[in-house]
Amino acid sequence: MTQTLTIVDHPLVQHKLTLMRQRDTSTAVFRQLLREISQLLAYEVTRSLPMTTRSIETPLMEMEAPALAGRKLALISILRAGNGLLDGMLELIPSARVGFVGLYRDEKTLQPVKYYFKVPDQLDQRLTIIVDPMLATGNSSVAAVQMLKDAGARDIRFLCLLAAPEGVARMQEAHPDVPIVTAALDDRLNDKGYILPGLGDAGDRMFGTK
Ligand code: URA
Repeated sequence: MTQTLTIVDHPLVQHKLTLMRQRDTSTAVFRQLLREISQLLAYEVTRSLPMTTRSIETPLMEMEAPALAGRKLALISILRAGNGLLDGMLELIPSARVGFVGLYRDEKTLQPVKYYFKVPDQLDQRLTIIVDPMLATGNSSVAAVQMLKDAGARDIRFLCLLAAPEGVARMQEAHPDVPIVTAALDDRLNDKGYILPGLGDAGDRMFGTK
């Protein structure tokens, strides 16, 4: 991937995103839409996966058929909202290896602190896709990318549903080598770090919490 920021402007993605943004969309529908949209985003973020060929037999003849090359890719969910994107992606890429990164914000320093980290082995040989629906301030995303780099990942992509300009700028400054794929780039953050116009708290909306 050469483009640093890709906005997936496919009509189906945009339509589903509008439904997800609406205040009165129920938890069940929100979850279903997230599952559907994550498959469309997965299609885009994996567009340039390395390919090889292998010999197969069709019922009629032998052929050299295209197949994915290299190790199974790694999907890394940033807890907890990342799990919503993860579920849909796994339907499309069922053999992917899966990791989880848990971060909370220290109330004094406001910096992200790791409370859980479990990722697949041989990350240096896998395409690593981090999933988190909201790229807001970018603090947790930047920290998660650094943890994955420290764990060996070399080819990292970041997949989100919505991004704020502030988060994109922060990621591009800290990790210019990590392409970002999103369904939309919104206007800005409010003073609580929520994306505007946004969709609210993605975790609360997908899990039905407040
Ligand atoms: N996280 C969310 O869930 N929503 C936002 O708007 C920003 C961060």
